[in-house]
Amino acid sequence: MSNVSSNQIFAWIERYAAHIAEQKDYLTELDAAIGDGDHGANMHRGLQAVLAKKAELQNTDVGVLLKGVAMTLISTIGGASGALYGTFFLQASTTAEGKTELSSTEFGSLLEKGLAGIVLRGKAALGDKTMIDALQPAIKAYKRSIESGEVREDALSKAVSAAERGLKSTIPLIARKGRASYLGERSAGHPDPGASSSVLLFRSAAETLC
Ligand SMILES: Nc1ncnc2c1ncn2[C@@H]1O[C@H](COP(=O)(O)OP(=O)(O)O)[C@@H](O)[C@H]1O
Ligand SMILES: [Mg+2]
Repeated sequence: MSNVSSNQIFAWIERYAAHIAEQKDYLTELDAAIGDGDHGANMHRGLQAVLAKKAELQNTDVGVLLKGVAMTLISTIGGASGALYGTFFLQASTTAEGKTELSSTEFGSLLEKGLAGIVLRGKAALGDKTMIDALQPAIKAYKRSIESGEVREDALSKAVSAAERGLKSTIPLIARKGRASYLGERSAGHPDPGASSSVLLFRSAAETLC
């Protein structure tokens, strides 16, 4: 099984930017229902700023690349998602310092470290109706699949399915973190916007990291 190269990691982020651009209005609609209606615009702004730094971010090691992605998201997205996705990529970058490629197992550790950063920063847990409800099961599914000897393509496809189930699971939940929590019971009946953008993160990975 081949390793994941830094160029593939850049392609992952580029694909993520493309999916976000396509789904921008939908993500904003989701956020309008239970938040302040800026999630799509926030993510789009951040990822377009990352693309504008393509020349500087491409052909570096994975650590430098992901740190650049993190700092750009943090400085260009005002909302919670900027700090949280920024923290994800910043923590992820620390597992890849100086590396130009990662094994499937190392990529799993990168994802886990990123998620741990989000949890530490946002203090949300599974079931609080946040991006964690998609990210955590996706990363768990990826890891379990790789550990049982499956190829990365299968592991990523299982991660996408787990993220989609996680997103669906947020619909009946009452938000306990972030802006949506201000709505209390009225937040139930809607999917979480951040969980929706997290599904796209994994869909992009499955499309580029095989
Ligand atoms: N404490 C938290 N932990 C994890 N995710 C969170 C937290 N607070 C908010 N989120 C995620 O951020 C998303 C909202 O992002 P966004 O609309 O861009 O930021 P803001 O809430 O500042 O307007 C939510 O749908 C949720 O998934
Ligand atoms: Mg918002």
